[in-house]
Amino acid sequence: MVGEHLLEVKNLKTTFLTEMGSVVAVDGMSLHVDYGETLGLVGESGCGKSVTAESIMRLLDERTTKYEGEILFKGQDLLSLPEKKMVDIRGNEIAMIFQDAMTSLNPVYTIGNQIVETILTHQKVSKKEAYEKAIEMLRLTGIPSPEKRILEYPHEISGGMRQRVMIAMALSCKPSLLIADEPTTALDVTIQAQILDVINELKKELNMGVIMITHDLGVVAEVCTRVAVMYLGQVIEEAPVDNIFTNSLHPYTKGLLKSIPKIEGDRNKKLYTIEGIVPSLHNIPKGCRFAPRCSFADEQCRTQSPVLKETDGGHKVRCWHYEKIGQMEEKIDVTATS
Ligand SMILES: Nc1ncnc2c1ncn2[C@@H]1O[C@H](COP(=O)(O)OP(=O)(O)O)[C@@H](O)[C@H]1O
Ligand SMILES: [Mg+2]
Repeated sequence: MVGEHLLEVKNLKTTFLTEMGSVVAVDGMSLHVDYGETLGLVGESGCGKSVTAESIMRLLDERTTKYEGEILFKGQDLLSLPEKKMVDIRGNEIAMIFQDAMTSLNPVYTIGNQIVETILTHQKVSKKEAYEKAIEMLRLTGIPSPEKRILEYPHEISGGMRQRVMIAMALSCKPSLLIADEPTTALDVTIQAQILDVINELKKELNMGVIMITHDLGVVAEVCTRVAVMYLGQVIEEAPVDNIFTNSLHPYTKGLLKSIPKIEGDRNKKLYTIEGIVPSLHNIPKGCRFAPRCSFADEQCRTQSPVLKETDGGHKVRCWHYEKIGQMEEKIDVTATS
């Protein structure tokens, strides 16, 4: 259909029913991803990035989770599909990879067996074809001598190799959407760069849409075309990747940018961190959710919630004072007064 996105999330709200009452972990989230593009989803730990991903895949326990809004994948609303249809979509059309490959791989099966099983579950091919495909996928992720590796067990290979195996497994059915939840967080910097390259290459090869979840803006700079910054269950800024780095408008985004380690910088200089912590979902601040940590916050910020407003060229921001803050580039100090 003309003008249809690969994935379009509209006003998603994910509520958990907990013993301490219900909490809204994702609140009014809208985003879209097209074929061949990588959307970065960033924010500190606890902002709702994983819950967003798990909602798209409908992986959360449906007895204690309520979803509202729409998740349109190729035009059909995943939230209204029967679970049986979702099983077909998961792993086949939408694949997900996680931070810790060890938890996604089964220690008692060889790497080959696991990839072959995945392929056989989703595709009508012979065992021999599945085996050949598994080797091809491992080769695509840059694993040397895949025909030997395929006989090994997860604990016999390094963390970086395990991550490649998980990617090979996730992409073996050639999904159109890949959700990568902090896929390189547990890896050292060199391996991290290699894995990001692999994801980038495969994205081009398969023309997939990718959602790259990370708390690391360095990763975003490396692979993303567009970025959505989340804070406490909401998108607070969204823009093409270059705008995020050169023309960010939200004090929270500016804080995240200031906390990126610079390789050439003074190593002894203490790394900047945004003051304070992400508040509990049981205690969401009134007005702007970031106000208690923001040095620009005034009475309006503390009492009225700003809406996500489009400024120009696909740049959106949720802040009462973005015009002023956007212009204050040089003098900016987002450290909350303490
Ligand atoms: N099953 C659950 N029940 C209740 N709260 C949850 C559940 N899963 C996640 N949360 C809460 O939702 C918020 C967002 O979590 P998450 O999406 O994991 O953050 P992150 O951005 O680090 O991925 C956190 O406050 C977390 O404690
Ligand atoms: Mg997470």
